[in-house]
Amino acid sequence: MLVTGATGTLGRDLVAVLKERGHDVRGLSRSKPGYAHADLTTGEGLAEALRGVDVVVHAATDGRRDVAAAEKLIEALETAEHKPQLVFVSIVGVDRIPLGYYRDKVTIEGMVAAYGGTSLRASQFHDLVLTLAKAMTKLPLVGFYPAFDLRPVEVHDVAVRLAEIVEGDLPARPADFSGPERRGARDLWRAYLGKAGKRRLLVPVRLPGKMFRALRAGAGTGPGGGTGTWEQYLSRTL
Ligand SMILES: NC(=O)c1ccc[n+]([C@@H]2O[C@H](COP(=O)([O-])OP(=O)(O)OC[C@H]3O[C@@H](n4cnc5c(N)ncnc54)[C@H](OP(=O)(O)O)[C@@H]3O)[C@@H](O)[C@H]2O)c1
Repeated sequence: MLVTGATGTLGRDLVAVLKERGHDVRGLSRSKPGYAHADLTTGEGLAEALRGVDVVVHAATDGRRDVAAAEKLIEALETAEHKPQLVFVSIVGVDRIPLGYYRDKVTIEGMVAAYGGTSLRASQFHDLVLTLAKAMTKLPLVGFYPAFDLRPVEVHDVAVRLAEIVEGDLPARPADFSGPERRGARDLWRAYLGKAGKRRLLVPVRLPGKMFRALRAGAGTGPGGGTGTWEQYLSRTL
């Protein structure tokens, strides 16, 4: 089995989970020591990295050239010895939230489906939500929160779900996967500030446009499935 994006937030956890569950797995990175090396954007090293691989979990992203990278990956899979299974990690609400990165995800999901692969949509990882919360409460006295709901998920729960999918019958579109609680950004930021021992006056920013309307309607929240909570993550991380 091969995991792309193996040095990333999800990939690191996923490789560990798959190994724990007894899979013969290697991780892919462009350059980090100890990994199979390939660059998905150029395709360099891919054929070699795919040798003997039966399943690829595609969790690499550079945020800009992901469609080109998926094209290269699928091209290489088509010509690989045993036409490996493909599992792609997408995001909840990509078809409802008009954002360039999300449009790319929809395009890649289509390519993955045409190949006969699987796309799992997950909601925002706790790690990303913490980055957002820190950025928006950076000023000494005041912080800002967008008026929308999230349902952040523990990255380890996503890794375990992906392992279950790989071990199962690989449906084209398994149920979306998100965290246990749908919560407003204000509530998430307040929990962060509390755990971090910081005081801020929280001011709402109501951002205009279709994208924020979709986010306010909860388009990115998903149905749940994960068990790790925001508070548990904060206690462990801060
Ligand atoms: N973060 C979230 O909240 C979230 C939520 C839902 C779904 N997702 C999806 O889950 C997946 C993983 O996200 P993440 O946050 O774990 O990503 P990440 O931490 O940004 O890691 C992405 C990895 O991709 C690799 N990469 C980038 N460009 C590459 C290229 N051209 N060739 C080969 N490898 C390349 C990098 O590894 P090297 O630098 O070692 O090459 C990097 O470690 C993504 O598809 C993302 O859209 C993320």
